[in-house]
Amino acid sequence: MKFNTKTIHGGQEHDPTTGSVMPPIYQTSTYAQSSPGKHKGYEYSRTANPTRTALEKGLASIENGTYGLAFGSGLAAIDCVLKLLKPGDEVISTNDLYGGSYRIFAKVFENYGIKFHFVGMADVSKWKALINEKTKLLWVETPTNPMMNIIDIEKVSEIAKQHELLLAVDNTFATPYLQRPLDLGADIVMHSATKYLGGHSDVVMGALVVNSKELADKLYFLQNACGAICGPMDSFLVLRGLKTLHVRMQRHCENGAAIANFLKNHSKIDKVYWPGFEDHPNHEVAKAQMDNFGGMVSFVTKSDKMSDAFKIVENLKVFTLAESLGGVESLCGHPASMTHASIPKEQREKTGVVDALIRLSVGIEDVEDLIADLDTALKLI
Ligand SMILES: Cc1ncc(COP(=O)(O)O)c(C=O)c1O
Repeated sequence: MKFNTKTIHGGQEHDPTTGSVMPPIYQTSTYAQSSPGKHKGYEYSRTANPTRTALEKGLASIENGTYGLAFGSGLAAIDCVLKLLKPGDEVISTNDLYGGSYRIFAKVFENYGIKFHFVGMADVSKWKALINEKTKLLWVETPTNPMMNIIDIEKVSEIAKQHELLLAVDNTFATPYLQRPLDLGADIVMHSATKYLGGHSDVVMGALVVNSKELADKLYFLQNACGAICGPMDSFLVLRGLKTLHVRMQRHCENGAAIANFLKNHSKIDKVYWPGFEDHPNHEVAKAQMDNFGGMVSFVTKSDKMSDAFKIVENLKVFTLAESLGGVESLCGHPASMTHASIPKEQREKTGVVDALIRLSVGIEDVEDLIADLDTALKLI
């Protein structure tokens, strides 16, 4: 099956009891057994639930993977990956990444004896020297949140293979519509399914997809042993979201390109971060590993003032000022005080997350309305 067909049918079957086209929301915690250990494949809903199974199969299918796992949040999915490690192990991670990912690495797992190196991974020569016998995991987010840096997944995966390291890619911004990390050599794909996969700002969920049975078994063990699963209703909602992923993403990309170009040509704007620009430092890598450039755009005004950034986000009317991204509705955010507030100021400013930066999650409304909204707010500074 090709991608658009897979978003609808991948890993799915009609419900065997009624033929229902969508899997029912199996709102149950447990399953009848005819004799101890004799059951129809389900024992307890932390371990597995048919609605979650349908979603997990769908997720695996669209990422060109074999095994899917769904969690109660993106961070719960990251937590599961980190629990593959032991005290003394080291991780090399993108330095420009979602603030919550930084927080769980630096503020939670550092306390359990795991060491994290945060580096700009777009330039391989900058971080290769950090690999030593304790290194176990490479953590890549691409495009990065919120600076839209692009990391060459295939190149990183070659290095991971040479040194027998696991490579995990946070594919939240791109989604499998634009980029399939497992095909590029990654071992684990991670998602905040809260974002584009769910697509309607109504669920918090995380996901992992892998190809290796050995790795999948370890992750399923941790998913069940630690218990950070998602419920059947949320599984149903994200499965429904997947079925329109391709049409939503197409419009996100079209609108994202129009907004990025509008901002780039605006007299009050200094920098626009969007991987579709030919002068983006890793545009060629983006072109090679992504099928389009997505709907996330960040920018800084020429005044470079936080007060102007606040004025803009407070006065946008169609864009809602809110945490999160990837829903059908356009959102704007101020990373320094919102999504990336947990990263120390000096560290975030080194990666470009300055106080004047604004991040847009461009939705699928009429783009003329979005441009008019931005134009009106920019007139106020
Ligand atoms: C790139 C990225 N990864 C991970 C997460 C964490 O996911 P969740 O909020 O679903 O726990 C987010 C949330 O914003 C994100 O943007």
